[in-house]
Amino acid sequence: MDSILVKGNGPLNGVIPIAGAKNACLTLMPATLLSEEPLTLTNAPRLSDIATMTQLLQSLGAEVASLQDGQVLAMSSHDINNHTADYDIVRKMRASILVLGPMLARDGHAIVSLPGGCAIGARPVDLHLKALEAMGAELDLRDGYVHAKATGGRLKGAVVEFPFVSVGATENALLAATLAKGTTVLKNAAREPEIVDLAQCLRRMGAQIEGEGSNTITIQGVDRLNGATHPVVTDRIELGTYMLLPAICGGEVECLGGRLDLVGAFVERLEEAGVSVVETARGLKVTRKNGRVNAVNVTTEPFPGFPTDLQAQMMALLCTADGVSVLEEKIFENRFMHAPELLRMGAKIDVHGGHATVTGVERLRGARVMATDLRASVSLILAGLAAEGETVVSRVYHLDRGYERVEEKLRGVGAHIERITS
Ligand code: UD1
Repeated sequence: MDSILVKGNGPLNGVIPIAGAKNACLTLMPATLLSEEPLTLTNAPRLSDIATMTQLLQSLGAEVASLQDGQVLAMSSHDINNHTADYDIVRKMRASILVLGPMLARDGHAIVSLPGGCAIGARPVDLHLKALEAMGAELDLRDGYVHAKATGGRLKGAVVEFPFVSVGATENALLAATLAKGTTVLKNAAREPEIVDLAQCLRRMGAQIEGEGSNTITIQGVDRLNGATHPVVTDRIELGTYMLLPAICGGEVECLGGRLDLVGAFVERLEEAGVSVVETARGLKVTRKNGRVNAVNVTTEPFPGFPTDLQAQMMALLCTADGVSVLEEKIFENRFMHAPELLRMGAKIDVHGGHATVTGVERLRGARVMATDLRASVSLILAGLAAEGETVVSRVYHLDRGYERVEEKLRGVGAHIERITS
């Protein structure tokens, strides 16, 4: 298993290109199942999660070609000859459940393995299933699989009110509703930029959708969808992560492709901490010149609130802030697994339920630490760059799920980072 070695440095300066969003790409790829014509995604990120979704779609009979060094995904689902998403692929990645809605909408039947447990909490898929049931799916859960059939062979439009906001359930329902008979209204829908991107792509394919980005999305089902070419939206989590580099190490980093509307709540907290963020013609420029950042309180919420996927990285920054910060995690239980690792680096953190109280220290110290999930792993790299001495982060396969060419990008702004291949 590979590890990453980082050495604490001085200020970081330069530019970092931000990739297309992993989470958008993972919901856009299953959209290929809705049409017999080709769907091409540009600005795709080069990540192991994308390779897993490729493998899943291919197992169903879709053709997926990775072009231009992985930045273009050319897909065609002309011949879907298998309607079972196997446990061996699904267990690697929860987002695999997103093939359920499209397969059911297209052919009226699908069998998809339940994703199973996950390091950041229970993460059930009940809301996905309830939405599809409301649209006329008959579901049978046996042998760890969801066996789904559309009553009468085709899903029907329905009013679906989610009891709380779920990104994945909104996506699955939106994908399915495009080919359902009649109108579907999704209430208390997620408003994340990845949902807006999905709706835009589906509209390019001929879907009739209104209201994405608000909490009510209305979909008028159509009989068929066409092919399309769609650019994947910028990854706001990779963006926020790299915006933290100059915040935590000092210096000035311009994130190419960055947009304020993608990271509004996060930027508010950064500015409160004393970090400057300026919109440029090519992206967002982040600067911290002198002294420690101020302590700030952070509460994770559905978009447009502060994203849970930036909580671990923000905690790394606040470990070095001047004062006491409280982070409240409202999306996932058990999402502070990075805290014990940061403690090994000299941080002062007290976790109590869904809250973590962080008392900033002048300097973190390098240590051997272990990545427990994707965002936790990058938070340890950020902490290592701000620490005195060397930090070795093990289990970096988590990192490769969501950050493309991380060493190359970080070295480009002057970071000392290398991969140790075992
Ligand atoms: C997506 C993102 C993930 C991000 C999360 C929240 C992808 C591939 N992943 O995950 O990176 O952290 O949004 O922004 O896009 N829940 C249920 N039942 C369900 C579905 C969800 O109880 O059927 C719960 C979850 O356990 C969690 C909360 O709802 O507590 C929100 O989860 P959700 O928004 O669905 O997250 P994902 O779509 O899994």
